[in-house]
Amino acid sequence: MGRKGGRVAAKDTNFMGPTHVAVIMDGNGRWAQMRGRPRLFGHQAGVRRVREIVEACPDLGIRYLTVFAFSTENWRRTQAEVSGLMNLFRRYIQKEAQALLEAGVRVRFIGDRDRLEPKLVDMMHALEELTAGNELLNLTVAINYGGRDEVARATQRLAREVAAGRLDPEDVDAETLASFLDTCLLPDPDLVIRTSGEARISNFLLWQSAYAEYEFSPVLWPDFTADHFAEIVSNFGARERRYGAVKA
Ligand code: IPE
Ligand code: IPE
Ligand code: MG
Repeated sequence: MGRKGGRVAAKDTNFMGPTHVAVIMDGNGRWAQMRGRPRLFGHQAGVRRVREIVEACPDLGIRYLTVFAFSTENWRRTQAEVSGLMNLFRRYIQKEAQALLEAGVRVRFIGDRDRLEPKLVDMMHALEELTAGNELLNLTVAINYGGRDEVARATQRLAREVAAGRLDPEDVDAETLASFLDTCLLPDPDLVIRTSGEARISNFLLWQSAYAEYEFSPVLWPDFTADHFAEIVSNFGARERRYGAVKA
């Protein structure tokens, strides 16, 4: 299977590397607890790793990086943790906007914005606009994101098109549905990494990961360095992706 759409990796040596890497950044709470600190301390440490991994991507030939920051299920946490995380997202945008712009990173957000504070939504939108002209790396941040919720919202929009007579039900196929997803502008992930030793998807990119390769790292996210990341990415080339076919 060749690479899609004539995309070329930044370095020839990594030509067989993944175009799109998605990361379930897990283990912040345990990292903090091990140090006798509040969970938010772990989330703060986690944010620093995001910066490090973003910076590592271009040299690894990665064009798309998607990170899971807050799930539709994470509202079940204490109010203190949820509002601490929302503050952290606002601070991240405020602090990193200029650096992301200068580094050639185009930022997008996926997830349902309706339940987020208007102030945060405005900042997300402004960062998307600010970086819209960048193309070195596409960074997608999933906030209030759930795979099932995304498919349900997409189906709702699709149904509205049908009801309005703009879409024929007979024409609905997988591609049609994909075009209504939050990720409609992104290629499917080639590699999904989850840190902290948990081997589950937790509602992340359910539709898009149909043929993704998975890698589960035992390292907690605040300890997950660019070196850990680069090692997983370099091992990706050894995997044989068959997409249901039999190799000739
Ligand atoms: C991941 O770390 C970050 C978010 C879900 C926001 P956790 O907070 O889930 O950390 P653990 O899994 O409890 O250690
Ligand atoms: C998944 O981690 C969500 C994020 C990393 C944002 P969780 O910690 O919420 O997942 P579960 O609850 O262990 O499945
Ligand atoms: Mg967790």
